[in-house]
Amino acid sequence: MTAEAARIGIVTVSDRASRGEYADRGTPAVEAWLGRALTSAWVAERRLVPDERDVIADTLRDLIDETGCCLVITTGGTGPAPRDVTTEATEDVMEKVLPGFGEAMRAASLRHVPTAILSRAVAGVRGRALLINLPGSPKAVGECLDAVFSAVPDCVDLIGGPRLETDPDVVRAFRPHD
Ligand code: MTE
Repeated sequence: MTAEAARIGIVTVSDRASRGEYADRGTPAVEAWLGRALTSAWVAERRLVPDERDVIADTLRDLIDETGCCLVITTGGTGPAPRDVTTEATEDVMEKVLPGFGEAMRAASLRHVPTAILSRAVAGVRGRALLINLPGSPKAVGECLDAVFSAVPDCVDLIGGPRLETDPDVVRAFRPHD
């Protein structure tokens, strides 16, 4: 029996990309990274939304509660500007906070750029799904996923999601609970 493909939500949060003023580069960056890292079957559920707290929160709820995503990754809207509300929207929907993700992303990112400290990215659990915020720049997407993804498969196991397998040449999944 072949396992059903894991559904992974990828949400770009950007006023201008959602208005079509420029191309969305966030979701393709996340998707390309996951395409290199994951060896088990998965499908992307892509969303492009403006920096509106309620719209973001509704999108995250829908991806988890209705679409059945085991992992939802957002990109953009984590900074300090007035329209940056992805963090608040994620906090609106998460049931458990996992502060280590944000801590690890900022610690790793500070080795790349001093302004990494400006990202308020959070992560947490809703139901059987892990939610992770990433900053918006495609470069930051890769740097942050490199920093945290080794813990993602074990977390998804622990919350009752599907088994995510990775290519160890890209990222080695650390599974202490196996
Ligand atoms: N993290 C990494 N790894 N690389 C980056 O280039 N950019 C920072 C920060 N984190 C950056 C990064 C900047 S300039 C900002 S403003 C914040 O992420 C928030 O970005 P966002 O509002 O697009 O989410």
